[in-house]
Amino acid sequence: MPNIYKIPDIPLILAPMAGVTDFAFRELTRTAVPGCVDRFYTEMVSVKGLLNKNRASYRTLPKPHETTTVQLFGFDPADFPRAIEIAFACAPKTEGIDINAACPVRKVVRNGAGAALAKNLPTLRRILEVSEPLVHAEGRRLTLKIRKGWETDPNYLEIISMAMGCGVDAIALHGRTVEQGYSGMADVTVLDRIPEVERSRILWSGDIIDPGSLEKATRCPIAGVLIGRASIGNPWIFQELKNAIGGKPYTPPAAEERIRTIESHVALMEGEMRRERICGAFKKFVSGYTKGIPMARSARNRLLMSTELDELKKGLFALLYENENLIPVEEG
Ligand SMILES: Cc1cc2nc3c(=O)[nH]c(=O)nc-3n(C[C@H](O)[C@H](O)[C@H](O)COP(=O)(O)O)c2cc1C
Repeated sequence: MPNIYKIPDIPLILAPMAGVTDFAFRELTRTAVPGCVDRFYTEMVSVKGLLNKNRASYRTLPKPHETTTVQLFGFDPADFPRAIEIAFACAPKTEGIDINAACPVRKVVRNGAGAALAKNLPTLRRILEVSEPLVHAEGRRLTLKIRKGWETDPNYLEIISMAMGCGVDAIALHGRTVEQGYSGMADVTVLDRIPEVERSRILWSGDIIDPGSLEKATRCPIAGVLIGRASIGNPWIFQELKNAIGGKPYTPPAAEERIRTIESHVALMEGEMRRERICGAFKKFVSGYTKGIPMARSARNRLLMSTELDELKKGLFALLYENENLIPVEEG
């Protein structure tokens, strides 16, 4: 008997992840589980990088045909209007602009960007005020991404009402403090403390890994959920969650489908970067693609020592085939 979950029909969104949600990963997710991902974010893009015509920053923008939300990070409100214009010009199908006030990385915070903005509300307000008219004049969405707050000052309630007053369409809330980084669990009880009218415009982020965690985060009405780490090497998480929403059983992919998907993923990466870089860049997906294989840790560790892409692929495919019958075929 499959579990019957009580989950509202809610948008499933691929979370922004630097070093992960590049074009190859977004396209892979789009094609591996068609119709299961309702929205996509880019990795975070530096506004200064765009203004300084930095090639890497331009390459982080969506392709011209892509319907994707561009996440911007920066600290100077004066930089945002031009950066937004550049994003719309390079990627005319950009669906929305998201402002990053969540990133805890020291280099970003030291410059006054990312999570530092959660401690500098006048600057954050100004960034939203200068961005809002531009984004809405183009008929796109303006969103903000925050954490619960800093350890000593979980000020998410204050930020949410300030940002909604500035006209943002939605706020993605990662339920960890900045000091927590990615440790511990995201605190889903913060949702209970947000007034209902604001909560209906909150996108939840943190530890959505299966239908059970999705059910918990959507107990009260919210606007959507972001799926981050659970999607790395596992685009099927979106299928699993969509099925749970629709009350349908879910069968995890067999070895052959995983291998086909890995081949497509590598081919997409080949279109985006030099071949010698792919082996290193692909390693972050190995653990996800071998999810469900018991006792795979030592085999995985061996794979991570590979220095050539072909060696990595060969080892990965062998591991998947050897364990084909061990991968659980029915879950739910
Ligand atoms: C490798 C990695 C990179 C991330 N990069 C970003 C980023 O560029 N912008 C952002 O707002 N959040 C970033 N995040 C945070 C995620 O969007 C998400 O909020 C967080 O991982 C919690 O969700 P999860 O438990 O579903 O992974 C990143 C997380 C990871 C693991």
